[in-house]
Amino acid sequence: MALGVKPIKGTFVGEVDPIDLRTVDDSTLAELKAAWNRYQILVFRGLKMDESDLVSFSQRFGDLEIHVRTEYLSREHPEILYVSNMKDETGRAIGILSQGEVGWHYDQIYLPRPALGSFLMAHTLPKDRGETSFADMSLAYEQLPQGTKAIIEGRKAVQSYEAFNSAYSVPTDKKQTKQTPDVEHPIVRTHPMTGRKALYICPGMTTQIVGLPEDESRAVLDELFDWTVRPEFVYTHNWQAGDGVMWDNACTMHRREPFDENQQRLMKRTTILPPADLAVPY
Ligand code: OGA
Ligand code: MN
Repeated sequence: MALGVKPIKGTFVGEVDPIDLRTVDDSTLAELKAAWNRYQILVFRGLKMDESDLVSFSQRFGDLEIHVRTEYLSREHPEILYVSNMKDETGRAIGILSQGEVGWHYDQIYLPRPALGSFLMAHTLPKDRGETSFADMSLAYEQLPQGTKAIIEGRKAVQSYEAFNSAYSVPTDKKQTKQTPDVEHPIVRTHPMTGRKALYICPGMTTQIVGLPEDESRAVLDELFDWTVRPEFVYTHNWQAGDGVMWDNACTMHRREPFDENQQRLMKRTTILPPADLAVPY
């Protein structure tokens, strides 16, 4: 079967023609993988997948991560992380981003081997359905002024989960904090599948450019953060029931847009790990 994918924003976002992801054969899977290398984000509509379908489909792209925030995992399927503002019967949040966190971030940029991709599926949407924005960090790098490219060339930056959590007063416990010490990654990475370079920094978690004085580091980071979220690099997804969005987490930064917190919202995410034999950093 020839997979149909319509470009929504250049080669950044493609919408896949209606497809049942529960019954994808191997040749269609190969086409999906090729499409996911052509586009950084694939949008699926009209999905009918339960948690076990979501896990099975995601596993065809690689091993799945068990998120460090274990209290927000699905009980039946710990490969699924809940993203939600909903509370359980004891009043505890059932998912991450329950505090109104809207910081731009890369998933798991704070880990030594960060995720290669994420698949986010809508479960319960607010009345206005809500939005998630994505920034094309490959195009943002390509179009960066030459002088800025020269400043960051060969440099690393510090990535901190702690910084994100403290910015939004997210409760953490000692065990989790110990599991996620700050790490350093190259600021410009070469995508292991496509060879494209991308900026690997985000306002939510990148705190410092290694080797630059504090004030210079701050100024360069702020310039980069402003640059990467210019409208020409950003796609904002308006969610519909049955939507799934799969993004390349090596070159796509994202954030949840604010919504009416009196409305309930639950999204379910799987996180695809890099292959074990892939050398990191890349
Ligand atoms: C995520 C995430 C944003 C949203 O799932 O990693 O950041 O809009 N989600 O739910
Ligand atoms: Mn995220």
